[in-house]
Amino acid sequence: MSDRTLDFKIAPSILSADFARLGQEVDDVLASGADIVHFDVMDNHYVPNLTIGPMVCEALRNHGVTAPIDAHLMVKPVDRLIGDFIDAGASYITFHPEASEHIDRSLQMIRDGGCKSGLVFNPATPLTFLDYVMDKVDMILLMSVNPGFGGQSFIPWTLGKLREARERIEASGRDIRLEIDGGVNIDNLRDIAQAGADTFVAGSAIFKAANEQDPHRYDSVIASMRRALAES
Ligand code: DX5
Ligand code: ZN
Repeated sequence: MSDRTLDFKIAPSILSADFARLGQEVDDVLASGADIVHFDVMDNHYVPNLTIGPMVCEALRNHGVTAPIDAHLMVKPVDRLIGDFIDAGASYITFHPEASEHIDRSLQMIRDGGCKSGLVFNPATPLTFLDYVMDKVDMILLMSVNPGFGGQSFIPWTLGKLREARERIEASGRDIRLEIDGGVNIDNLRDIAQAGADTFVAGSAIFKAANEQDPHRYDSVIASMRRALAES
């Protein structure tokens, strides 16, 4: 196994979890081997769906979740919620550059609050938004579906964009995670890792695949994902 393989992180998107028992779902998926909790925030304005906000993030912390929480903000405006998610205990806060009038300032706010910062790129959003802020991002998140819903199909040409993002990270010499989000599953994981991703969001692929003997455990699917990653 290469060093890069050891550093792969699996980030289940709780968008596909059972919201009526969310705390237990997060405990279960972490106990099954997941690394990061991917927390999708949608506002029915920037994206056509409405999900969960900072109160739910805080509730997960109060429930005892200590794993990193990766708040993916699909909201406009962005800045007000950055403060709320810092207070709610988020670890990463990422936002879409089109949704902020002042990208540099929003990134700085996240870091000033002690969180890791990131920019999210829709399938058709160019990576040039990174040009002047590589020193202010800890995470680059590429969307491999148009944001708003779980369960969509992976857009294959995102693989080329991942390679381009990986080149930018290598050229910068900085410690920046490269995350992929949308339509990730056991079958396409190898290609995604080979294209340069190191952090893998998966919603439906994980939460719709509970263990046969125990519907509240996800060990089998997460182990299969790790095997696929080890082969990449
Ligand atoms: C989509 C969200 C994703 C979503 C992924 O807008 O950002 O995190 O939950 O779900 P799957 O893995 O089902 O495509
Ligand atoms: Zn997401």
